[in-house]
Amino acid sequence: MSEAAALQVERVTAGFGPTTILHGVDLSLAAGGRLALIGRNGVGKTTLLKAAMGLADVHEGCIRLFGEDITHLSPRQRALAGLGYVPQTRDIFPSLSVEENLLTGLKGRPRSAIGEAYELFPRLAQRRHNGGGQLSGGEQQMLTVARTLLGQPRVLLLDEPLEGLAPIICQELMRTFDQLARATGVAVLLVEQKVGDALRFSEEAVVLERGQMVHAGRSSELAQRPDLLERYVGVAGQAHA
Ligand SMILES: Nc1ncnc2c1ncn2[C@@H]1O[C@H](COP(=O)(O)OP(=O)(O)OP(=O)(O)O)[C@@H](O)[C@H]1O
Ligand SMILES: [Mg+2]
Repeated sequence: MSEAAALQVERVTAGFGPTTILHGVDLSLAAGGRLALIGRNGVGKTTLLKAAMGLADVHEGCIRLFGEDITHLSPRQRALAGLGYVPQTRDIFPSLSVEENLLTGLKGRPRSAIGEAYELFPRLAQRRHNGGGQLSGGEQQMLTVARTLLGQPRVLLLDEPLEGLAPIICQELMRTFDQLARATGVAVLLVEQKVGDALRFSEEAVVLERGQMVHAGRSSELAQRPDLLERYVGVAGQAHA
């Protein structure tokens, strides 16, 4: 049998309470792999990440982390099992300093591990004593990512990390994700509306529409299909942007 996928979503129907958002979604993120999840606003991308993280209700189907069924674990248990989640809303404590924000991500690791975050994002080191709420949008995103990484996830779920950021910061973040994936082998599931960046970063891509998966394949091939990108995301001209 081949190696278990890092994250496997099997025939998942999920939503919030009685509301069903996802219908029978299947996807597989290879160990050490990079998968892009794209689709228009409101199709269920965030809901899928929340279902993986235990923050949405899975009505049917199963979520596996390296082969282990985690469908019924709490979000905290999933985090301890190796799932790292960077939510779409930047998740920082505005009244705490950068360093204090980072301390909340240590999950029992020694304080010295914070150096890893500063190595990855030198800007955070320069602003370590600033309040989280004083950071720019890009810096807040870096802080959210850095704090998640301090938990040493084996699978990283990134929900639109580039949203609202200037192009130069987007490039910096994407370069950092690339270096990180190479250096640590963390598997990455990237939700991103900036389809060009998402497809360049990833090996495989899946497209969601109204809670269903409508396309799955190599990212490099999808990047060459303006017809599909126009139909599913409405961005034919931007795939190479
Ligand atoms: N807590 C909730 N309770 C009920 N419905 C919700 C909840 N959160 C999201 N929804 C609904 O689920 C659908 C999918 O939302 P979701 O946030 O997953 O979309 P998305 O693809 O991430 O969109 P975007 O690109 O705008 O972030 C939307 O119709 C949304 O209104
Ligand atoms: Mg979303």
